[in-house]
Amino acid sequence: MEVIIQKDAEMVAKLAANKIMKLVNQRPNCNLGLATGTTPLKLYAELIRCHKELGLDFSKVSSFNLDEYVGLDSNHPGSYHCYMQEHFFKHVNMDKKKTHIPNGMAKNIPIECEAYEAKIKACGGIDLQILGIGHDGHIGFNEPSSSLGSRTRIKTLTELTRKNNACFFKREKEVPYHVITMGIGTILDSKSCLLLAFGESKAQAIADMIEGPVSSMVPASALQFHPHTTVIIDEAAASMLKRKNYYRWVFDNLPHWQA
Ligand code: F6R
Repeated sequence: MEVIIQKDAEMVAKLAANKIMKLVNQRPNCNLGLATGTTPLKLYAELIRCHKELGLDFSKVSSFNLDEYVGLDSNHPGSYHCYMQEHFFKHVNMDKKKTHIPNGMAKNIPIECEAYEAKIKACGGIDLQILGIGHDGHIGFNEPSSSLGSRTRIKTLTELTRKNNACFFKREKEVPYHVITMGIGTILDSKSCLLLAFGESKAQAIADMIEGPVSSMVPASALQFHPHTTVIIDEAAASMLKRKNYYRWVFDNLPHWQA
């Protein structure tokens, strides 16, 4: 796992956007795995800037979102369909037909989940999966105790996650209990993962993910098995890492072929 510590959230977003810009420029028809929540907001703003000011072209890119609430229509302001539209899609030149988000209104959820997995496969797999991390160590909405081999399926949110996501709804009680989420196995199949985090409130989850044992109680720790995961975090999120000086040294002294 490559761990990169940056001064603040702005620097985290800039570095992450640079990595994505490099991939999109090299492979215009790449498949991006997208996340929602507060963490990627600055990243999306930076990618929008790259599109508007530097001509970054998303027209051939396909995207697959990690998750969606069960029971929310795509027009519901709390839905991740709406989030993606508002914070990213409507500002760039993504082809709507190439954007994919699980359908939380599907009548048959197991079939929707299977079809979502099949679509990812048919596109050739996800090249780069963007991730945030929950305070309890979840990725996607794979809450603690999720199978580390899980595929896209329905999951129940914990009260902590519902509380943390309440800022996207008028009232906390409106936050659904159920979601469709890519599984941990689905995420691990991505060719590379890029996990971002900032703020002291994520420090424990980050330390557990990087330096703790692999455990379904910290679902993000499964990324220790992934051969190409980059974690970009700010100082506050890095504050509980025991080996942060080592991670800093590695990043500051990358061999020229890797830099
Ligand atoms: C969102 C997602 C979640 C969030 C996590 C952190 O699509 O899959 O894993 O990344 O809940 O949320 P924020 O960024 O709001 O702290």
